[in-house]
Amino acid sequence: MTLVGNGVRGDFMSDSADLALLSVVKEFGAHRAVDSVTFDVAPGEFFSILGPSGCGKTTLMRMIAGFEHPTSGDIRIRGKSMLAVPANKRPVNMVFQSLALFPMMSVGENVGYGLACAGVDKIEAGQRITRILDRVGLAGFEDRPVTKLSGGQRQRVAIARCLVLEPTLVLLDEPLGALDLKLREHMKLELKQLQAAFNTTFLYITHDQSEALVMSDRVAVMNKGRFEQVGSPRELYHNPLTSFVAGFVGDANVWNGSTFGAQATGLGIKLSTGAALVGAGSGSGAVSAYLRPEAIALAAVPGELSSLPNRFAGTVSTVLFDGAASTLVIKAEGFPHLRATLPQAGPLAGIMAGAPIGFGFAPEALKIFPA
Ligand SMILES: Nc1ncnc2c1ncn2[C@@H]1O[C@H](COP(=O)(O)OP(=O)(O)O)[C@@H](O)[C@H]1O
Ligand SMILES: [Mg+2]
Repeated sequence: MTLVGNGVRGDFMSDSADLALLSVVKEFGAHRAVDSVTFDVAPGEFFSILGPSGCGKTTLMRMIAGFEHPTSGDIRIRGKSMLAVPANKRPVNMVFQSLALFPMMSVGENVGYGLACAGVDKIEAGQRITRILDRVGLAGFEDRPVTKLSGGQRQRVAIARCLVLEPTLVLLDEPLGALDLKLREHMKLELKQLQAAFNTTFLYITHDQSEALVMSDRVAVMNKGRFEQVGSPRELYHNPLTSFVAGFVGDANVWNGSTFGAQATGLGIKLSTGAALVGAGSGSGAVSAYLRPEAIALAAVPGELSSLPNRFAGTVSTVLFDGAASTLVIKAEGFPHLRATLPQAGPLAGIMAGAPIGFGFAPEALKIFPA
């Protein structure tokens, strides 16, 4: 196996992978919605595709499900090309954002629908329905109308309906999109636990970075039809390889500037607002720089930060209290607004707007990309 620069596998292990895409392209007229996408998903893996609205996620998924045909490239499941296999014969099942439950049917009828279509006899179907409802926490719900369920319960029916068919691969297209924030947080954990318990391969698409980071073994970050980077949530967060990934995954201070050459501790850059910094990365001329709020060390006096080549003095302009994680907005000469995570404990925990503050960061924390 070879890895090309962005972590996207150059060749692939289609026979041992549950799903493999090779140079898949989809054009709608002159518009290239999916642009040469190559990746594979291992058995039992929770793999997410994360990207902004319109970047081609649903189109990619519809091709895997068999609802769209690629313009070129190949899609393989367990080593077998799917191009000539119709949607209803592919060993995949899809959960939609709308859930697409049948409102006139009971929970049991919804879950059993696919089994009936597949010709599974009534007794066996009944047993499988009971078993799956038990495993998703809906034991005894067979006769309940789906219209009488809560949002979270409906979500579980949609998952049960999909898993009861024992697909090789489950495709989930923004399945939590319709839920309110609190339920979404809860369902993230629940989906992850279900996936682990069933050990089924999940391909999950979302525009919500927190969903992708929390649930996935690996994430592909997609932009304008292409995969920018594939990696574990940690890799993407700590080692973004492109400016798009750095800006899309996690929170960051994003600044423009220009380089002024290699320094002893890293690459020198001058922000458009005036501050001179040392960062990590490449590029000459116009660059953008990314700094995570939690990578900034804070001190009552800048002298405490003497081990950091980047250290400055400023003033707290705002304290954004947010329960577990508060953020300071800091004003300093030569900087645009700077957001830094405030540690929960320690001498600065009660700091107020107007207080003087020292801040600093390691060169490795400041990621520099060509603009
Ligand atoms: N059937 C279609 N005909 C023409 N353009 C389409 C069609 N389906 C999707 N597109 C276009 O392809 C792009 C990607 O869409 P989509 O895959 O739905 O993105 P996402 O799911 O990431 O929001 C969009 O510009 C969209 O307008
Ligand atoms: Mg979509």
